[in-house]
Amino acid sequence: MGVQIQKMLGALLFALILTVGVGLLGDIVFPTHEPQPEDETAAVAGKEAPAQAPEQTGQPAPAQASLEQLLASADVSAGKAVAKKCTACHTFDEGGANRVGPNLHGVVGADIAAKAGFSYSKGLAGKEGAWTIENLDAFLTKPAQWAPGTKMTFAGVSEAKDRADLIAYLHSISPDAPPLPEASAKAAPEAQPAEEPAEEAPAEQAPADEPPKQPAEQASGESERAAVAAPSAPEAGGNGGLVAMIAQATPDQGKKAIRKCTACHTFDEGGGNRVGPNLHGVVGADIASKEYRYSDALAGKDGAWTHENLDAFLTNPAGWAPGTKMTFAGIKQAEERAAVIAYLRSISPGAPPL
Ligand code: HEC
Ligand code: HEC
Repeated sequence: MGVQIQKMLGALLFALILTVGVGLLGDIVFPTHEPQPEDETAAVAGKEAPAQAPEQTGQPAPAQASLEQLLASADVSAGKAVAKKCTACHTFDEGGANRVGPNLHGVVGADIAAKAGFSYSKGLAGKEGAWTIENLDAFLTKPAQWAPGTKMTFAGVSEAKDRADLIAYLHSISPDAPPLPEASAKAAPEAQPAEEPAEEAPAEQAPADEPPKQPAEQASGESERAAVAAPSAPEAGGNGGLVAMIAQATPDQGKKAIRKCTACHTFDEGGGNRVGPNLHGVVGADIASKEYRYSDALAGKDGAWTHENLDAFLTNPAGWAPGTKMTFAGIKQAEERAAVIAYLRSISPGAPPL
């Protein structure tokens, strides 16, 4: 009897060890299986994901340039179709409910992780800045890579064109968003030939519809790239227009245009800091050099407030200085920006000549 019980116990123990062992093994094996559903999502979301993503993340500069080109020809309705991939987790209508993810109305230009009533992951809540088109493009390419720890268990949209269409759609439902690159860049060169026809465009060509458009589009590409890639690099083509516009702005236009800033800035010599620093003498001064607690984003910028840097910053503050504390959407109109810069020049004794 005793021996039999011992044997039975032994067999039981063996079975137990086997079960636990397999269970443990299972635990070890299981996690490697877990990502599978995501991988499948990736396969469904975009078949070329593995082939394209490394290329795009490896070379941010060309990807950005092409994002602008893609956005310039983006199709809002195609973007709406791409957004069907998101509707399991997101609503898009104004005042729409949060689902698994937050409502996305107005997301372009909004602060990251800022929808009321939604509990964000630390991965996203810890991100500073706004949903610029660059941030959206990076996040939507591979959410978990751009925001490690994000709750958005979505593999990403692998096709750059699909993302551009999608961003154009999100932009179309974001009333407070800064203009897309195409729109802001076009405003500048359009005004340029109109105001100085003698220099660039022959007078006979100006009235015609087609010819002025071509140089405008070329110039828009250049000035946009200049603003994004090398804000401080002097580029002859783009600068001519900006300088000319600054030169032509009247003091009245400038005074009117800076009304948008007075809630946060003073302009008089020795004026106090408000939400933002006093702006007396800012043109030609070093960036972030007032007695003021700047964000790291601005404090980390090298160089001075050249006309070009001011123009780029004022076009899209959060785009030019991601993480800036200046929560101001930007000035779409190139002429209006030029008027602001002209006014700032008038109160900046150290401003470089035009
Ligand atoms: C499986 C569900 C799911 C899918 C599918 C999904 N999302 Fe999300 N999304 C989330 C969750 C959850 C969050 C919150 C993430 C966090 O807190 O880390 C989020 C956050 C976001 C945010 C940040 C919003 C903010 O307020 O900061 C954007 C933008 C976004 N998603 C866009 C999209 C788009 C565009 C698609 C479709 C291409 C998409 N998402 C597909 C679940 C999803
Ligand atoms: C909602 C408040 C707000 C508005 C409106 C605003 N700004 Fe600012 N501005 C700030 C803040 C805050 C900073 C500091 C930014 C930082 O540290 O990142 C700043 C910084 C700046 C700087 C950099 C100054 C320096 O010393 O380097 C310039 C230039 C500037 N703003 C110009 C303008 C102009 C021109 C306007 C109007 C067209 C404007 N701002 C509108 C809040 C604002």
